Amino acid sequence: MSDVRDAGLADRGRERIEWAAREMKVLELIRERFEKERPLDGLRLAACLHVTTETANLVRTLAAGGAEVALCASNPLSTQDDVAAALADEVHTFAIRGIDDEGYYRHINAALDLRPSITMDDGADLVNTLHQKRTDQLPEVVGGTEETTTGVIRLRAMAEDGVLAYPVISVNDAKTKHLFDNRFGTGQSTIDAIMRATNLLLAGRIVVVMGYGMCGRGVASRARGFGAQVVITEVDPVSALEAAMEGYRVLPGREAARIGDIFVTVTGDTGVIRREHIDLMKDGAVLANSGHFDVEIDKSALREAAGEPRRLREHVDEYRMPDGRRIHLLGEGRLVNLAAAEGHPAAVMDMSFANQALSVEWVARNADSLERRVYPVPEEIDAEVARLKLHSMGIEIDELTPEQESYLRSWEHGT
Ligand code: NAI
Repeated sequence: MSDVRDAGLADRGRERIEWAAREMKVLELIRERFEKERPLDGLRLAACLHVTTETANLVRTLAAGGAEVALCASNPLSTQDDVAAALADEVHTFAIRGIDDEGYYRHINAALDLRPSITMDDGADLVNTLHQKRTDQLPEVVGGTEETTTGVIRLRAMAEDGVLAYPVISVNDAKTKHLFDNRFGTGQSTIDAIMRATNLLLAGRIVVVMGYGMCGRGVASRARGFGAQVVITEVDPVSALEAAMEGYRVLPGREAARIGDIFVTVTGDTGVIRREHIDLMKDGAVLANSGHFDVEIDKSALREAAGEPRRLREHVDEYRMPDGRRIHLLGEGRLVNLAAAEGHPAAVMDMSFANQALSVEWVARNADSLERRVYPVPEEIDAEVARLKLHSMGIEIDELTPEQESYLRSWEHGT
């Protein structure tokens, strides 16, 4: 059973999934092994992810491992309807681009109707619904995985409050995930989305990146690469210092608000751009969010100040202030790289989703011995993903000589 916009889009979806697959060599190797070994046989898996071509390749891998999969969308604006149509022929798929809030949760509940033994989340909405509305199912779940920073923060809070009912692997914490996906993936796709939505020239513009975490680093370096002057705002002194020494100008939000042309929030926090900032912005300012939830830019403050927006281009809403200034919000303040572009390139999702697939296998194998808390991805999985990715890129590296191994293990040398 599935709920997608138009089954007729399936052929186009299949072609696009095939195109992404060519860049996902690590996942392909895992899929080939899963087909032989069937490590997920008998498992029911509910996944709440951005429904994109890359996710389709992950879902196929999980199904090849023997799992029965139900997929729903982790964001109503990121669903690619052709991909959903193609997947609906293979697994239970509940995803329609632009669906309202009620439909979004109806789809999450439809995925949970599978009565999963494993959950796979991106932002923890699936886990949250399970823990708040469908507690009778909790004893059936042996474990789960979580893709993103914001989801991991929510899950750790649940574990601290003693309410997390089963172990969850924080895929985001794998080095082969956040050092690449958050940085290079978010960096490239966020800039790509801003350019697709606006066609603005970045060279010479002031781009304000709010939050210099893993994602912020990527967005800042890519914006600089296009010739923008990059300004960083931060609340963490160490991150702010790193940004300053990387050569970026670091300013408080209110000062940045006065000078910025393009603003990108990537904090995982709420109310990062508020009325006090909006009131200071220049005519023509462009606001985009790449953080997980659409709470980083205060949309109600924009409405309060300017009334209803005018859709000027696809993905561009113009808010006209009483004093004549025009402020533009991209992708309704939702993850801009998924709303106005296609999300991360497949080659980087290859690593994130290889971690997902291997973490599901690990959690299924070790479920009996795990506690109800958030676990990191085992180091051997992280190293394996890096090794396979290097191999797929044709890159070889050196190995330690026996002498070096013993040197690095001993403490007696140098005296
Ligand atoms: P992170 O924890 O590495 O960085 C967040 C940074 O924002 C920190 O340095 C923090 O000090 C700073 N910050 C917090 N509140 C702030 C405020 N009010 N003003 C300025 N700075 C503030 O997190 P990461 O991995 O960079 O993720 C950020 C967000 O992006 C999360 O919501 C995450 O889920 C999401 N994400 C989005 C992706 C996408 O495709 N667009 C991909 C991966 C993550």
